[in-house]
Amino acid sequence: MNTTVPIPNGQYQDLLVEQPAPGVGLVRLNRPNALNALRSQLMEELVTVLRHFDRDPAIGAIVITGNERAFSAGADITEMADATPTEMLNRGMIERWQQVRQIRKPIIAAVSGHCLGGGCELAMLCDMIIASETAKFGQPEINIGVIPGAGGTQRLTHAVGKSLAMEVILNDRRLTAEEALRYGLASRVVPVASYLTEAITLATQIAARAPLAVQLGKEAINRAYELSLTEATAYEEKLFYILFASEDQKEGMRAFVEKRLPQWQGK
Ligand code: CAA
Repeated sequence: MNTTVPIPNGQYQDLLVEQPAPGVGLVRLNRPNALNALRSQLMEELVTVLRHFDRDPAIGAIVITGNERAFSAGADITEMADATPTEMLNRGMIERWQQVRQIRKPIIAAVSGHCLGGGCELAMLCDMIIASETAKFGQPEINIGVIPGAGGTQRLTHAVGKSLAMEVILNDRRLTAEEALRYGLASRVVPVASYLTEAITLATQIAARAPLAVQLGKEAINRAYELSLTEATAYEEKLFYILFASEDQKEGMRAFVEKRLPQWQGK
């Protein structure tokens, strides 16, 4: 589990970065004493690492995790408590979350324990969530006099529907891992002992697939949240045709006909 990925800017203060399996980039949020509260430093480092993985041809899928007690308890409240609106605007705090959305390779959130506020929004920005049985999802911003600011009101509503999202956001209802699974927020719930290995295994499997098709598949699925059905299916259709320009499409279909395994080039 310990091949360190060469990262351009050296060591990170708030993250641990590894390549635990072929094709997989793993980022651990690492502020355990603050339940991985997402201060600006952490979010800046996270975006830097994700962009590095996105450019690295040796990486095909990314896993973001925290620790057993907390994926993350949200944005760092101490950092924001006394801020004015202009300071918040100038800091561009929310931009870091939006930059996670720009990553083209698939990202899996391996979630255990608290997954709250901006932490839940970060998990929802990922493409898949694998939850340990102890995971608890919530948007408790109402308790500190605000609302979610990094997409939570929208992405949670898309995931679980309006009525439940209202309970979560207006009345701090926490969702158990089983509820997250039932409502489609998570794709699996597994024992706490195996949530990270399951996420790494899934990432390894995806990283071994045709890279361009994985990338465009992610892009097309995300359009389901942003466009009408007519626009999104038209977009999907064009991406489907574009893949016929790739060597991997030729190789994949030829290998099927020749009854052999394909060799993907990512071209
Ligand atoms: N920001 C800063 N520090 C935090 C934090 C946060 N979001 N969440 C936890 N911490 C710190 C605590 O202050 C505490 O630090 P000290 O030991 O130095 O006092 C440490 O982490 C451990 O936390 P607790 O002692 O509170 O642990 P607990 O087990 O009793 O409670 C908890 C856990 C229920 C998650 C509780 O910590 C909590 O409610 N945290 C805040 C959750 C929250 O409101 N998140 C939303 C933030 S706003 C946001 O995210 C906006 C957005 O949309 C972008």
